[in-house]
Amino acid sequence: MSFPSGFLWGGATAANQVEGGWNEGGRGPALTDVTTGGSVKEPRYETYIDKDGKPGKKLQKQPLPDGAHYAVLDGYHYPNHEAVDFYHHYKEDIALFAEMGFKTYRMSISWSRLYPKGIEKEPNKEGVEFYRNVFMELKKYNIEPLVTIWHFDTPLYLEEHEGGWLNRDLIEYYVRFATTCFTEYNGLVKYWLTFNEINNTVMFLDMFGNKATDEDYQNAYQILHHQFVASAKAVQIGHAVNPDYMIGCMICGITRYPATCDPNDILANRYGWEKGIFYCGDVQAKGYYGTYAKRLWDEHNVHLNITEEDLVDLERGTVDMYTFSYYMSSLETTHEVKDKVSGNFVAGARNEYLTYSDWGWALDPKGLRYYLEVIYDRYELPLMVVENGLGAYDKVEEDGSIHDEYRIDYYRQHIIEMNKAIEHGVDLIGYTTWGCIDLVSAGTGEMRKRYGFIYVDMDDEGKGSMARSRKDSFYWYKKVIASNGADLD
Ligand code: BG6
Repeated sequence: MSFPSGFLWGGATAANQVEGGWNEGGRGPALTDVTTGGSVKEPRYETYIDKDGKPGKKLQKQPLPDGAHYAVLDGYHYPNHEAVDFYHHYKEDIALFAEMGFKTYRMSISWSRLYPKGIEKEPNKEGVEFYRNVFMELKKYNIEPLVTIWHFDTPLYLEEHEGGWLNRDLIEYYVRFATTCFTEYNGLVKYWLTFNEINNTVMFLDMFGNKATDEDYQNAYQILHHQFVASAKAVQIGHAVNPDYMIGCMICGITRYPATCDPNDILANRYGWEKGIFYCGDVQAKGYYGTYAKRLWDEHNVHLNITEEDLVDLERGTVDMYTFSYYMSSLETTHEVKDKVSGNFVAGARNEYLTYSDWGWALDPKGLRYYLEVIYDRYELPLMVVENGLGAYDKVEEDGSIHDEYRIDYYRQHIIEMNKAIEHGVDLIGYTTWGCIDLVSAGTGEMRKRYGFIYVDMDDEGKGSMARSRKDSFYWYKKVIASNGADLD
């Protein structure tokens, strides 16, 4: 078994989950900076001060009470403030990535590090220089950066004072930010992703039961439309700056299966793919809304504000590659669900043919092959798996070693399935495992949900030395890369 030559092996992170330095170097706050830590059972909260000056907290996605403003409060731990301090450790971390033989490193740029409020006309120079230094360091080791422009971190000011992505003006602010990235790092970066897991906005509305209202859908689809236009404008600008740029979409790739052969389940599954997966991929890769979009909007009385100019932008700003995250599959059914799975980011029927992670995520390597083959057939664009990984509890032995054979096994199975997809004709060009270094979980805010090949001594309460160490999987992945995927033992 081997992979195409030049295959981009590597790992992935996101700024808010690794970087820390939340109030250093002129950076402005993002929503994650007022978000507390949680667990698989305890949700994360966003903290604020209400109109009477009283501190309070609310669930993510719930609106701020009238007159309240977001605030960092005493007595709470905000794990993203320090994260794993990549801000100060990036040289050490990149050296470790290089030791594993990484060909690429997927990372994101914190929007509020470049534009602290998001509305400034000129970027924050210190922020621009920070990323330039990171890219130079990667270049030293011939590691190709793969840069996500937006990874869940709109500047807090835009969320609080501009109404977030529901406001059309965000398109302009984002385009300014993206243009800065394209021009400042021209010559240092070739691969770009416009929005991380763009489809979450709608997909997660459905995942947690039927509680979402028509208004929620109206807002979610309008937000998505603004992001599609922002992405399409960015793609056009990126290509004008450098025609060699490879710019991709990034979709949360959950493979769906019908739970039974009841035709109602089969249809529900097809419609689930359309709504959860194809809706965004079609607009970004084909340049227009699929025929089923009207049905989806009508289901919830959605009326979108779409201009003629938007449609032209969507058509002109299609992506060069399709990238996605893959962690799990899920079951679609119209029947009552007796055996439910629930974890962060997942809810639904349990698949009796699969096993589940400690956080309730279905472990399904074949689902990755299925996804790759379906998507390649649909778009015939180069594909990249830009997130795949196992969040697990790791035990540090007395001698400091960490025997994470469960993680090795997870990766081995997924790599075998990727290889089969390639043999079946899929043009897969890269694979970046999620959380190549331990980081703060996006869903739960935990550190104990570890993904890395590299262990970071930091716990859920923010205690630890930040020392880095190599897990068994570190040595294993090094061998995999050195053999271009031939040696998986
Ligand atoms: C994806 C995100 O949803 O899954 C990452 O792009 C996230 O930011 C990853 O970290 C894993 O999820 P979690 O909740 O385990 O961090």
